[in-house]
Amino acid sequence: MRRIRVTVDGRAHEHEVEPRLLLIHYLREVLGIGGAHVGCDTSNCGACTVLMDGESVKSCTVLAVQADGHEITTVQGLAGDGGWHPVQKAFHEAHGLQCGYCTPGMIMAAVSLLRENPDPSEQEIREGLEGNLCRCTGYENIVKAVQQAAHEMRGQAVAAS
Ligand code: FES
Ligand code: FES
Repeated sequence: MRRIRVTVDGRAHEHEVEPRLLLIHYLREVLGIGGAHVGCDTSNCGACTVLMDGESVKSCTVLAVQADGHEITTVQGLAGDGGWHPVQKAFHEAHGLQCGYCTPGMIMAAVSLLRENPDPSEQEIREGLEGNLCRCTGYENIVKAVQQAAHEMRGQAVAAS
């Protein structure tokens, strides 16, 4: 067993874990965070995507011990005091989901994408989200949601400057 200290969605945690425990299982089974989903066993679907120190990672490809000392953000930690994160709001308003299974991972990948590129083209959005699979939407409304969120976040950045 290995002792790890991890901050998840702003809360500090310390646990003894098996060295082989995956981060996704630590989040879901140890911390009870159901917002990170498991959609495959091949590291393809992206449903498990979370941020580690602000960078998107597929949490089924990271060991819990590799998260030791790091900050993890799941979809459950995105909303702030002012309500939903602009990406969450845009997915809701632009109907960027149907069954919602891919949505937590899709949103976290979009947040990471917009942090790196606040004004992405449609092609850049599609490329940025290509590690996240959706069986329902045909991606059109997902792309629209990311465009809407990008627009709103740029507006907020201008207003704050
Ligand atoms: S569960 Fe499918 S990529 Fe992680
Ligand atoms: S909304 Fe159903 S898998 Fe994406």
